[in-house]
Amino acid sequence: MELLNNIKNFWWKEIVQKKSDYYGLDSAMFKFPKVWEASGHTTGFSDPIAECKECNTRIRVDKELNKIGVNADEKMSEKELNKLFKKNINKIKCSKCGKKNFTDVRKFNLLIKTNYGDFTGKDSEDVYLPGEACQGIYLNYKNVVDSMHPKIPFGIAQIGKAFRNEISPRNFLFRCREFEQADTQYFVRPNENKKKYKEIKKERWQWYLDLGLSEKNLRWKQHENLIFYASDAWDIEYNFPTYGFDELEGIHDRTDYDLTQHSKFSGVDLSFNENGKKFIPWILETSVGLGRIFLAVMSEAYHIEKIKNEERVVMKFSNKLAPVKVSFLPLSKKEELTEPTQKLFNEIKEEFACKYDETQSIGKRYRRQDEIGTPYCVTFDFDSLKKKDVTIRDRDTTKQIRVKIKDLKDVVRKLIDGEIEFEGAGKLVK
Ligand code: GAP
Repeated sequence: MELLNNIKNFWWKEIVQKKSDYYGLDSAMFKFPKVWEASGHTTGFSDPIAECKECNTRIRVDKELNKIGVNADEKMSEKELNKLFKKNINKIKCSKCGKKNFTDVRKFNLLIKTNYGDFTGKDSEDVYLPGEACQGIYLNYKNVVDSMHPKIPFGIAQIGKAFRNEISPRNFLFRCREFEQADTQYFVRPNENKKKYKEIKKERWQWYLDLGLSEKNLRWKQHENLIFYASDAWDIEYNFPTYGFDELEGIHDRTDYDLTQHSKFSGVDLSFNENGKKFIPWILETSVGLGRIFLAVMSEAYHIEKIKNEERVVMKFSNKLAPVKVSFLPLSKKEELTEPTQKLFNEIKEEFACKYDETQSIGKRYRRQDEIGTPYCVTFDFDSLKKKDVTIRDRDTTKQIRVKIKDLKDVVRKLIDGEIEFEGAGKLVK
């Protein structure tokens, strides 16, 4: 959770806090059911599936076609997909029983339905869990305009939950039925989309580099089959260790479709009034599943290394993402060491996410901290009692320096903020 929060905070900080043309939002999950008709989800939000006639296993037809090199995706019509599926039927086997005996392709709606209403159940009303978080932004666009009076162009950012009736959730956090999306919707004047779209693409690429992902593990993929209202769509893909390059984030040029539809279905005029001139803004969207970023960050950080003929697993998180920044470890469980170590922990935990650990040998405790990616360990030993100093150990180099206790907070702060390199940290100590 700490790691996820650090990822979210970095996203929020770089977009909502640092850009003056973005507004942050938190919208309701339950919406009037017509919203999902207006958005096109009740009719068009589906995955193509076929079922094995021998063992009833369901397959995602577009993904199976992709695996054998055939270009297909969920936006194609049932008819088109059936044609491609039948043409390649001899090359696709059931993943469970290995047979090649499938039903026709059917589109399977991904919206998850529930209901709310009265306790008797008679007048309860069907509602949908949000199939994508961004609809909350479109519904609140007018509230933002009326309360914040932004100049166009401007953006709205939100982190929200989405739910999909995925037929084959897989690959841990990569494809789930419940997940969190970090979305931005940027509102521009009609036909003024191209330049900003390019800029947004560039910014999102840079955001991943600043997050700490390496450029060799990232690539662009342009959508070949666009949904009918979109004018362009690109994905940033990440090279996930076990399943290769796959979608991390989608960046979509959605034209005026969303606000036009919601205007039509709600009867509320959603046009923007700029100096007396009214128009429906066009929307540029960025949307990413936080679980997928989490997986990419974990993959990037994971290292197995040999140290003094011993193998260690170390998560090399950047200081800003590390779930625990500093761990406090007394050399032994003797009270004369544990008490002052806890005192230091209590002083510094106000400022940084810290942990205190006194169980097992110091070597084992260092390994534990390496495994959760703690950049710095502070150890209080018997010399500390006399010399009034402690050691700080650097996770990546395993080097240690001694620092006076009175300087500790300052040195730790500077190390975490990257103001000083570890090698030089000791120089601060008089
Ligand atoms: N509003 C646009 C939208 O929802 P999408 O391509 O369907 O577009 C955006 O989803 C992002 O959400 C994807 O790039 C991916 O990171 C994430 N995502 C989509 N389906 C997911 C699932 N089943 N599990 C986890 N993340 C998912």
